[in-house]
Amino acid sequence: MPAGKHILLIIGGGIAAFKSLDLIRRLRERGATVTPVLTRAAEEFVTPLSVSALTAARVYRDLFDLTDEAEMGHIELSRAADLIVVAPATADLMAKMAGGHANDLASTLLLATDKRVQIAPSMNVRMWDHPATQRNLATLQSDGVLVVGPDEGDMACGEYGPGRMAEVPAIIDAVDRALSDGPLNGKHVLVTSGPTHEPIDPVRYIANRSSGSQGTAIATALRDLGARVSFVTGPADVEPPTGVDVIRVETAAQMQDAVTAALPAGAAVFAAAVADWRVTSASNSKIKKTKDGLPTLSFAENPDILAGVSALREGRPQLVVGFAAETDDVIKNATAKRKRKGCDWIVANDVSPETGIMGGAENDVTLITADGSEDWPRMGKSQVAQKLAAAIADALG
Ligand code: CTP
Repeated sequence: MPAGKHILLIIGGGIAAFKSLDLIRRLRERGATVTPVLTRAAEEFVTPLSVSALTAARVYRDLFDLTDEAEMGHIELSRAADLIVVAPATADLMAKMAGGHANDLASTLLLATDKRVQIAPSMNVRMWDHPATQRNLATLQSDGVLVVGPDEGDMACGEYGPGRMAEVPAIIDAVDRALSDGPLNGKHVLVTSGPTHEPIDPVRYIANRSSGSQGTAIATALRDLGARVSFVTGPADVEPPTGVDVIRVETAAQMQDAVTAALPAGAAVFAAAVADWRVTSASNSKIKKTKDGLPTLSFAENPDILAGVSALREGRPQLVVGFAAETDDVIKNATAKRKRKGCDWIVANDVSPETGIMGGAENDVTLITADGSEDWPRMGKSQVAQKLAAAIADALG
């Protein structure tokens, strides 16, 4: 984090408020100035005195917002910051933000700001899962609010699940990214990744050998250039990156729904190896061995997600990038595939077993655009991802 950055830290009223004390210490160690704002509820969890001592700054409190107004207007307070961090962001604070309320100091500051806002949600798992909170989350994300966490784990209320505030190092990493001047700052990019699983019965499925590593590397590289990334992933071998919005799916149909829900986006990269067919004869109970013969599977074609997004009349991403996994006539097939699917770019690769690309650490790709093709040397999947992310940043300007 560049020293001298100014962070307005809004501490909401949740049990995780105690972690915000550590957050203040770590931010200051890294050279940031922290101006703290406590909601009324936060004062039930941490005292203004401890926050003031740790920040070496005056604490702005909802209780005194009117007198503060004379000293420093809320507009000025929220604009003097390089970044606004809300930690913990309670369900109530998220609802106020999503609804555009301005009925206390914290919500007024959040509505008055023109700076980036990053929230670290923290709440009971049922509150997090509630459709209202999920709706508010989606609204905030489409408003450009950065979200870090929540983590999954044991909660103070004795339940288990997502809702725990992200740990301080993860929040610091996200702050670093938000403050870096990446070329994709403020842009939303969608990435699909991994295989899909198409069920045969509750215990069996049809899959493919995609590990998800190339898609994961692309999401990471886009994130590192400052993009807000929606990462729609099938059941991959590798963990999704931190600092992106992860949407986990299993089937192609679910992937299509998740992609539709995540749009609009400035760019979309379709790195997933989507199953072309689903089993229409899938059974709700386990298919048993019988003496009457072997089971027969029947198939239906899955929706082509890439082609669907490329053909959108309204809300089509400015740049749509597909992948072409081929085993023969790679360039010819991929060039035809780009036209057929209507995408702007296609990243072609040879996935014949002897290349070791599918599931391996390296990739050997050709970028095909309307203007022609560009062979990239064989390199690590992270390098391919960084080169592609840089090209996307250039294209989005
Ligand atoms: N794709 C998609 N939805 C599908 C199938 C593919 O979004 N139902 C996307 C992939 O993510 C990839 C591109 O389309 O970006 C090409 O995938 P590929 O499997 O190479 O192409 P297919 O359409 O399956 O063509 P074919 O089987 O003829 O090679």
